[in-house]
Amino acid sequence: MLWQKLLPLLLLAVALAAATPTSNHSSQYEASTQRILDVATQRMRVIWDMRRRIFLQLTSKGKSPLGVQAPSKQEVETETYKLLHELAANLSVVPVEQLRDPLLRRRVQRLAKLQLHGLRPDDYEQAKDLLRTMQNFISGPLVCPNANDDCQARRPLAMYPQLYNLNMHTKVYDDLKLNWYRWRRAINDKDTARSTFIDYVRLLRIAATYNGHVTPSRTWYLHYDTENFQAEMEEVIWEIMPLYREMHAYLRHSAMLAYPKANFKDDGAISAPVFDQMLSQAWYSHQIFRTPYPKDQLPSVHHRLEEVLVTPVKINIKAAEFFESLGLNHMSSNFYERFLRRMNDDEGGSDCKSQVYYFPPDVAMRYCPKPNYKKLMQIHGTMAELQYNIYKRELPFGLDTEPCPGFAAALGETAVLASGTPRHLHRLHILLNESLTENQSLNRLFRMGVHTLLAVPQYFINDKFLVDVMDGRIGVQDYNCAYWRLQDKFAGVQPPDWRTAKDFDLDYKFYRGLQPDKSSTRKFMAEVLGFQFYRSFCIASQQYKPGDPNFPLHNCDFHKSTEAGDLMREMMKLGATKHWRDVMFIATGERKLSGRGILEYFAPLFTWLKERNMQLELEPGWEADEFCRNE
Ligand SMILES: *[C@@H]1O[C@H](CO)[C@@H](O)[C@H](O)[C@H]1NC(C)=O
Ligand SMILES: *[C@@H]1O[C@H](CO)[C@@H](O)[C@H](O)[C@H]1NC(C)=O
Ligand SMILES: *[C@@H]1O[C@H](CO)[C@@H](O)[C@H](O)[C@H]1NC(C)=O
Ligand SMILES: *[C@@H]1O[C@H](CO)[C@@H](O)[C@H](O)[C@H]1NC(C)=O
Ligand SMILES: *[C@@H]1O[C@H](CO)[C@@H](O)[C@H](O)[C@H]1NC(C)=O
Repeated sequence: MLWQKLLPLLLLAVALAAATPTSNHSSQYEASTQRILDVATQRMRVIWDMRRRIFLQLTSKGKSPLGVQAPSKQEVETETYKLLHELAANLSVVPVEQLRDPLLRRRVQRLAKLQLHGLRPDDYEQAKDLLRTMQNFISGPLVCPNANDDCQARRPLAMYPQLYNLNMHTKVYDDLKLNWYRWRRAINDKDTARSTFIDYVRLLRIAATYNGHVTPSRTWYLHYDTENFQAEMEEVIWEIMPLYREMHAYLRHSAMLAYPKANFKDDGAISAPVFDQMLSQAWYSHQIFRTPYPKDQLPSVHHRLEEVLVTPVKINIKAAEFFESLGLNHMSSNFYERFLRRMNDDEGGSDCKSQVYYFPPDVAMRYCPKPNYKKLMQIHGTMAELQYNIYKRELPFGLDTEPCPGFAAALGETAVLASGTPRHLHRLHILLNESLTENQSLNRLFRMGVHTLLAVPQYFINDKFLVDVMDGRIGVQDYNCAYWRLQDKFAGVQPPDWRTAKDFDLDYKFYRGLQPDKSSTRKFMAEVLGFQFYRSFCIASQQYKPGDPNFPLHNCDFHKSTEAGDLMREMMKLGATKHWRDVMFIATGERKLSGRGILEYFAPLFTWLKERNMQLELEPGWEADEFCRNE
């Protein structure tokens, strides 16, 4: 019998296990590691408590509900840095291979390596200063409002939102171009933009050396935990490239019609200022590009939305119900009373973004009180994050996060997509019909396409530029021209005129993408993986039936589908206990990023674009002409 043969072996194994010093060491290591983590968890609780007090204070209009002044954000930030920094140092001497408990091992692995938090205090402070400076490129009032760079008469403008809005509205190419130059001049006067960036890269490299990474980008991509993550992203770009090229050709044609006098260089690429404008106009009704069927306007939902969902509170409740319908957490009245708060009217401007707070055992949210269609969709994304927090707070500190940056946002994206479908708006009694006419439907897909297809390669380019600089594949003398080569290769975008190596032309989204919590990698992940998840949830809920015109992916609302909900919950509950590939596998059956979700979603648009471009005799693609000289 088999067991009889195996028994002696088994006994030997047991004896060996008892005798080998490693097994004894293991339990010692495990115990001491556990002690380190327990102490750290205690300290984290104190920080969570500080965050809770800040939240309560923020939402009680400055009155301190507890009678004591809440700590400042700065204090929380400093305490967090100290904790993570010390903890990583303490854990770095733990022999990870000796730990038998896989969860413990994973906690140590996650907490022992850091990004900016790994820097020494003075370097860390400098990194934050540099990030503030670069944030100021975006939102600081730096550009004089008139062409003569005369800031006396009127207050200077910020790139975002002021210049951005001006650019969105203008129909004069020369204005676009002028603004494009003026912002770049303003931030790179005396080489400020470039030298700030160089300093920041230096710190990113130092942070990598603390992790023992010879290739700095390994630290930048830390939690993707993949040999060459950039190659995987690039594959997605090439996968969706045929669709991108059709869109690009059609938009370029639109640009030439809109700006007949602009005299674009004739190599098939799109001038950067116009490209930026089109991207900003995805949902703007006086856009420069032609939608497929201009006569078949999308039904206006604004009016009905206000009638049906009278208040922002109602919108929150609808969004919460979306997740409850999937079988996820029910939001308690305690949550509504204590932890759901409205932002002040002066906060965040007209386009404020709702925010989620995490201080276990509680989670909280502050919402932007603007009852419109865009907010309705966005709030579904925020609620997804809230649900995620509720599940992952059960996990030990260190694993109570998403498995990689962008993962939570990708799950949020699925709810954003579902909540914006005609089918869902019909369910909410905002639209009369659960599907648009075919013409309207294409218009909608087209706008979604401008929004998504133009943005994704830009996230990739901005990420690749940073990483290639960091790893030394792009040298200092070549920064600007290398950037334009990437724009040319992956997006068909060119500068408005000849540029040189002395310029530094990166756009404002690049600087935004340097913020660790808003990185371009994260954005890329959120979009691409978001469409992959959406496809999976839609198949699971049978709201997407490939080939059935009544159930196209772009009108899939998986509301009420416990099949989709089960997948979502299972992934959320895992937090960072597993590699993101293992977690995504649960829903998608795949372990790789892929453009498939995007391609299937936009399939009808792809077909339409190909036909239309053929009729218009437009040749998709562009030549690899360079408009940047290294002097
Ligand atoms: C481990 O080793 C220590 C001495 O180093 C000894 O006292 C202890 O009994 C051992 N424990 C086990 C489980 O072997
Ligand atoms: C790290 O170890 C030192 C020395 O043992 C200890 O004082 C400190 O509290 C530890 N910090 C953390 C966060 O583990
Ligand atoms: C800019 O300066 C030129 C001459 O230097 C002048 O003619 C023009 O009116 C000025 N424009 C503005 C907007 O101040
Ligand atoms: C809803 O749209 C479908 C497809 O466009 C159409 O056949 C149907 O008549 C519409 N129903 C209503 C009530 O308008
Ligand atoms: C869609 O738009 C085209 C062009 O404007 C028009 O000829 C066609 O009749 C429209 N289709 C429907 C169903 O309205």
